[in-house]
Amino acid sequence: MLEANGVTIKFGGLVAVNHVNLKIRDKQITGLIGPNGAGKTTFFNCISGVYTPSEGTVIFDGRHIEGLRPYQICQAGISRTYQVINLFWKMTALENVLVGMHPRMKGGFLTDMFKTPAVRREEKEAKEKAYEWLKFVGLEKYANDPASSLPYGGQRLLEIVRGLASNCKILLLDEPAAGMNSGEKEEFDRLLQKILDMGVTILMIEHDMKLVMHICQYIYVLEYGKLLAEGVPEEVQNNPEVIRAYLGGED
Ligand SMILES: Nc1ncnc2c1ncn2[C@@H]1O[C@H](COP(=O)(O)OP(=O)(O)OP(=O)(O)O)[C@@H](O)[C@H]1O
Ligand SMILES: [Mg+2]
Repeated sequence: MLEANGVTIKFGGLVAVNHVNLKIRDKQITGLIGPNGAGKTTFFNCISGVYTPSEGTVIFDGRHIEGLRPYQICQAGISRTYQVINLFWKMTALENVLVGMHPRMKGGFLTDMFKTPAVRREEKEAKEKAYEWLKFVGLEKYANDPASSLPYGGQRLLEIVRGLASNCKILLLDEPAAGMNSGEKEEFDRLLQKILDMGVTILMIEHDMKLVMHICQYIYVLEYGKLLAEGVPEEVQNNPEVIRAYLGGED
């Protein structure tokens, strides 16, 4: 479904991502792990159009997407969340989801002052749909609260559901469980399964090994921008190179 071939990203003299090949299989959850500074977020930034790779190609659904703008990549069906939560803080939780749905909606309805009955109907339906999305992640009680007032775990879920609301085919999650307590992580594990059941493919950067090893079907390991290992969880867990990278690093 998504394929990176020889993707390289340089910042001046620093090669942050170095000839990475990666294949994300349809309707699976793939993990991207590696020590701090390995290039994981930079790789996401490349897939989502923040950076254009210095070398290499990214193919999504049979189409080259490297070099496309972020909104074009979003329209193509790729959504993402950020390592540092990135919400519209003053907007309500419901409005955040509405913004996520917006790529699929006709005309800027949020700012329309003169609404025809058709626009009003569309707006009502969109709000109902957004409310359903909030329910899907258990945030409906916060529908009318500003995003900034949600508890931390709730903000993470809101960012995820805003991505899902675009009806994406792939969701890229950058350390989604960071800062969650163990109860929230267990709930999050179940939510990931529900997202998979909807037919959405997931690529997840995550430091929590218990979560990664439990939920991911396939894992890629980056170190210093290079692919160090790949495989199913048992293979990766027992790979001496991976053990060295983790024990030798700061993690
Ligand atoms: N815009 C940038 N300009 C210059 N260097 C950058 C830029 N973005 C990232 N880097 C560098 O690229 C390398 C990879 O960083 P990146 O954030 O992708 O790592 P990461 O694997 O996501 O780490 P972490 O687990 O800490 O989030 C680091 O050395 C970082 O300092
Ligand atoms: Mg990162």
